[in-house]
Amino acid sequence: MLHASQRARSVGEVLQAPELEDNEGKAERSALRGAVTFEQVAYAYETDGRTAVRDFTLDVAPGETIALVGASGAGKSTVLNLVIGVIRPTSGRLLLDGADMNGLALHTYRRFLSVVPQESILFDGTIRENVAYGMDDADEETVRAALRDANALEFVSS
Ligand SMILES: Nc1ncnc2c1ncn2[C@@H]1O[C@H](COP(=O)(O)OP(=O)(O)OP(=O)(O)O)[C@@H](O)[C@H]1O
Ligand SMILES: [Mg+2]
Repeated sequence: MLHASQRARSVGEVLQAPELEDNEGKAERSALRGAVTFEQVAYAYETDGRTAVRDFTLDVAPGETIALVGASGAGKSTVLNLVIGVIRPTSGRLLLDGADMNGLALHTYRRFLSVVPQESILFDGTIRENVAYGMDDADEETVRAALRDANALEFVSS
């Protein structure tokens, strides 16, 4: 059984941990434009081998907003999990700013990535620790700006 403090080592921490992925020799990113290109991407979960995503081709320009719409089980979350790099295409190519994501040190890419899950998680600890999760160097103003953006500054302040 997991101790509470171990359980709290969750999503953010796991995604940032370089030792979980083989990042050796892979390109580190210190900046990102945000162009995402799917080239005939397919993905099959190992459990049943059926393709959850098939022949998926999409060009997303930096700053562009995309909504994926489809029935439950259509593959929307699978596409998102490919974008954030928790799974890799079974076939086809996924490019970030024109470079194949397979050659990318994903923990450096994820510094530029924000994910708002359907079900949000509150960790033990202070509000500051929750807001600044994964950003060791967040200063007061960064935390306040994030709270303001989330419409939470007023009730947090009070
Ligand atoms: N971890 C998994 N292991 C095996 N199959 C999976 C896994 N996750 C999803 N699938 C299957 O892959 C297909 C696509 O699922 P996905 O979760 O991407 O759909 P979705 O469009 O996000 O659905 P929803 O609208 O319900 O969130 C479904 O057939 C689903 O059963
Ligand atoms: Mg989903």
